[in-house]
Amino acid sequence: MAETTSINDVISIGQEGDVALICIDNPPVNATGQAVRQGLLDAMAQIGTSAKVIAIYCAGRTFVAGADIKEFGKTPLPPSLPDVLNQIEDSEIPVISVIHGTALGGGLELALATHARVAIEGAKIGLPEVLLGLLPGAGGTQRLPRLSGLPFSLDVILSGRQVPAKEALEKGAVDRVMSGEPRDVALAAAQDVLAGKLSTRKTKNLTADYDAKVIEETLAGVKKKNPHLISPVKCVEAVAACNKPLEEGLKVERQCFIDCMQTPQRAGLIHAFFGERAVSNIPEAKGDTRPLDKIGVIGGGTMGSGITTSCLMAGIPVRLIEVAQEGLDRGVATITKNLDGAVSRGKMSAEKRDAALAMLEPSLAMEDLADVDLVIEAVFEKMEIKKEIFGKLDTICKKGAILASNTSYLDVNKIAEMTSRPEDVLGLHFFSPAHVMRLLEIVQGAKTAPDVLATGFALAKRLKKVGVLAQVCDGFIGNRILGHYSKVNAFLVLDGASPQQVDDALERFGLAMGPHKVGDLAGLDIGYMNRQRMKEEGLDPNARYGGDVADRIAEKGWYGRKTGKGYYLYDAGRPVPNPEVETIIDEVRAEKGITPQSFTDEEIVDRYMTAMISEAARVVEDGTAKRPVDVDMVFLFGYGFPRFRGGPLHYADTIGAEELVRRIEAYAKEDPNYWQVPELLRKMAADGTTFADLNKEG
Ligand code: 3HC
Repeated sequence: MAETTSINDVISIGQEGDVALICIDNPPVNATGQAVRQGLLDAMAQIGTSAKVIAIYCAGRTFVAGADIKEFGKTPLPPSLPDVLNQIEDSEIPVISVIHGTALGGGLELALATHARVAIEGAKIGLPEVLLGLLPGAGGTQRLPRLSGLPFSLDVILSGRQVPAKEALEKGAVDRVMSGEPRDVALAAAQDVLAGKLSTRKTKNLTADYDAKVIEETLAGVKKKNPHLISPVKCVEAVAACNKPLEEGLKVERQCFIDCMQTPQRAGLIHAFFGERAVSNIPEAKGDTRPLDKIGVIGGGTMGSGITTSCLMAGIPVRLIEVAQEGLDRGVATITKNLDGAVSRGKMSAEKRDAALAMLEPSLAMEDLADVDLVIEAVFEKMEIKKEIFGKLDTICKKGAILASNTSYLDVNKIAEMTSRPEDVLGLHFFSPAHVMRLLEIVQGAKTAPDVLATGFALAKRLKKVGVLAQVCDGFIGNRILGHYSKVNAFLVLDGASPQQVDDALERFGLAMGPHKVGDLAGLDIGYMNRQRMKEEGLDPNARYGGDVADRIAEKGWYGRKTGKGYYLYDAGRPVPNPEVETIIDEVRAEKGITPQSFTDEEIVDRYMTAMISEAARVVEDGTAKRPVDVDMVFLFGYGFPRFRGGPLHYADTIGAEELVRRIEAYAKEDPNYWQVPELLRKMAADGTTFADLNKEG
């Protein structure tokens, strides 16, 4: 074995005969931070002409997974990645790269700048910059089309998808697929270069198969699909320059990259990337866990079936309990339909679906839960029913079994009190459809044991969900905030906006669907029942005009899409405003003596977002959510909040606490009961702190 020399902490070189090996070892994912960039240049210089071929490979779990995202937004440190890669491409000695794990973003761009690429079986390549509000900024938009053609490159760059090695080989993005350890493969492939068995070439000498029509059509498609997003348009703009000489194309790409780097969308999407990981990076999610070999689900309704589907898709056997055969059959049918849907969407194979269904054991007897590790109760949202079920579970379930409720609002501590083992009880709040939505609120009861909580996070991971810790309160993080800001919709409508205007303004802001359309989709009866419950429990302090319009719509039996009628009519497929709702609104306005005023889209968005941020700030202040980032992830993964805005509290930082306080105080002149400045926001305005600062404090 030849000796290795450290160039710096992350780069080392070795030489075997005429082959020089450059190893990148920068855990966790070998990102091209400053030390890697400088180290690569120094390594190339040190190797000089002492070798006839150079092979670059990585230590650890993966090839380079991209530029170091943590450096973004800070002053760039030289050398830049494009400069490093251009120098590698210009090397007179052939350079090859050996990819294991994933070569993503700047990692793939490094490989594209080398003169041949070898993938190790199982490796994947991709340019996921678009998912971070960016575009490949180190030659990806110029070199990939030269190697693999325009349609494939546009697909990879615009989707951000990870391409398996086999497909990459077919498309010419890699030259060979081999098996073995990265260093061994690097050496073997380099020997093949020396022996003339693996050819090398400079991508810059190739020309792209350019077709202006493909560019034009792609651009139109991108604008239609993502009307809010800047980076996909910039991606196409950069790729469009691939018919120019490489140097010129790279200049266009660089400018597009800088344009994207400066957008708030880039900051929002990167906040989302790190936030998704940060929510489970807490002590409560770590430590010992209990087994999750078999799960019991009580209730075969939409939620129970969705939860069951999710567990089965993750390979966990489920015992599904219902009280009557009809309900059980309906549950099994829904689960089968969900799994069939996953097959038709390409999420799983038909064989996996059959295997998943074979792990489902439907039963009418609660006693069948005696041997499961975790029970998730997903029955009707009534405290009395839940209490009864938990009382029974206490007598049936084995010692150490975790007892979870999928309640969306109710007090998990009261549910836990029905058992002799409150330490085994927690809330696992899934979002509908539970086999699709990625959010899981993990609700800690007053007595929940640490290993029970950690198992909640382990379950989220196995189900590929984003687990967020929440404390007990009415509605936990998400529904509590929703319960507050959704009243603003009612206020806006009664004060003069139409439901459609509210929806349109918020859709332009980035919501996939306006709140009235969401209500119609979810079923207006659900909100109605919840408002009734809150009234009964004396929980709704705001009496200004509560849910008047919504209540009257629901009382007419118009529950939205499922009845063909709600805020909108659905006869023609596309939602059309329901004229009878306008009559109801007029009636209520007249009864309350409200003279309608007009609102601009901006005013609608400002009020809606300020209300959301206010309650979100209170949720952080009272500890229901651990940090602002937890609230942000709840909204991104459970409520369709636009990812490019990073979440409500990331968005709040773009407005600033001082301005938010000013707004709330102005609105409070109209309704001092509803609009109150949260103490946290007042304090932040006074000392100039941001929610990002609070995230850092942890
Ligand atoms: N920069 C900095 N840190 C990164 C990183 C990156 N590019 N990619 C991952 N990390 C960090 C994660 O934050 C995480 O840190 P933590 O342990 O402190 O939470 C750690 O590496 C491990 O990441 P994951 O938990 O995501 O590990 P997985 O094994 O599940 O996934 C991965 C690995 C597929 C590489 C995934 O991390 C990933 O998709 N990373 C992002 C890849 C990417 O977007 N690359 C493009 C960057 S932009 C760019 O290259 C610009 C260029 O064109 C100029």
